[in-house]
Amino acid sequence: MGHPIGHTKSPIFQQAGLDELGIDETFEAWDVLPEDLEAKIATFRESGFIASCVTLPYKQDVIPLVDELTEAAEAIGAVNWIFNRDGKLVGHNTDGSGFLRALKEKAGFDPKGADAVVFGAGGAARAIIYALKTAGVNRLTIANRTVEKAQVLANDFSAGRFKPTATSISRDELTNCVPYANLLVNTTSLGMVGGPAELATPATADMISADTVGYDVVYAPPITKFLREVEEAGGKPAGGMTMLVFQGIEGFEISTGHTAPVDTMFSAIEKALKSD
Ligand code: ATR
Repeated sequence: MGHPIGHTKSPIFQQAGLDELGIDETFEAWDVLPEDLEAKIATFRESGFIASCVTLPYKQDVIPLVDELTEAAEAIGAVNWIFNRDGKLVGHNTDGSGFLRALKEKAGFDPKGADAVVFGAGGAARAIIYALKTAGVNRLTIANRTVEKAQVLANDFSAGRFKPTATSISRDELTNCVPYANLLVNTTSLGMVGGPAELATPATADMISADTVGYDVVYAPPITKFLREVEEAGGKPAGGMTMLVFQGIEGFEISTGHTAPVDTMFSAIEKALKSD
């Protein structure tokens, strides 16, 4: 459910997963106008309705319309799945856990104990910082053009020994953290098709260490300038489509109570992307 929804590939890989497991349910894309949102969500309480995946622009708007939030949704401040539990609606967020699965299952990287730098301080950064905190990263730097926003995130997620540092995205500042990081995550719109600067990157090969994993949340184009810089430095690049699919897979597993057929779901989306 979102608005507009024309671009979504979710029904393709979700339906492929349901069909593979022989689950006789449908996953549909719903384009919901803002004025219809409340009434639409009320229908989620009906028996037989299992869950809804929520995308832009409603990830925050649905918060007051559900009965309960999970800890992840509360901490991230956004809902991307709503589950119907016997008429009670539970708002959850799988963007962070989906990111962790993408890192572990597609890039072979466990962030526990790692030193990480997250570029950007918007909604995607919030989900990823929450995920990295729960996964037990050692040190985290949040680098953003507007440092105040990075500082807000650093404060929000500080707890006990976990104290993220906020910094600007300028080259001078980045040379203090990027060369020492095992994990770099771009959540800014730099590098995005149709974004502010498609050929820009938050960090360049000369400052990236060869044992670094670089993850880009930007998935169009599939290989961004940032990922090319990571590769040139000898590091391991990993792309954003995997986070998008795994947030869906996490929701699928909670909705159905079954382990998702991950390979089938990825094959379905890869086939759909090729025929675009
Ligand atoms: P999302 O919810 O997808 O994370 P967002 O909230 O719009 O998107 O955040 C976009 C991020 O890209 C922000 O961190 C933004 O930096 P500011 O907080 O300073 O605005 C960053 N960004 C966008 N354009 C940028 C540019 N030209 N240079 C550097 N950072 C940029």
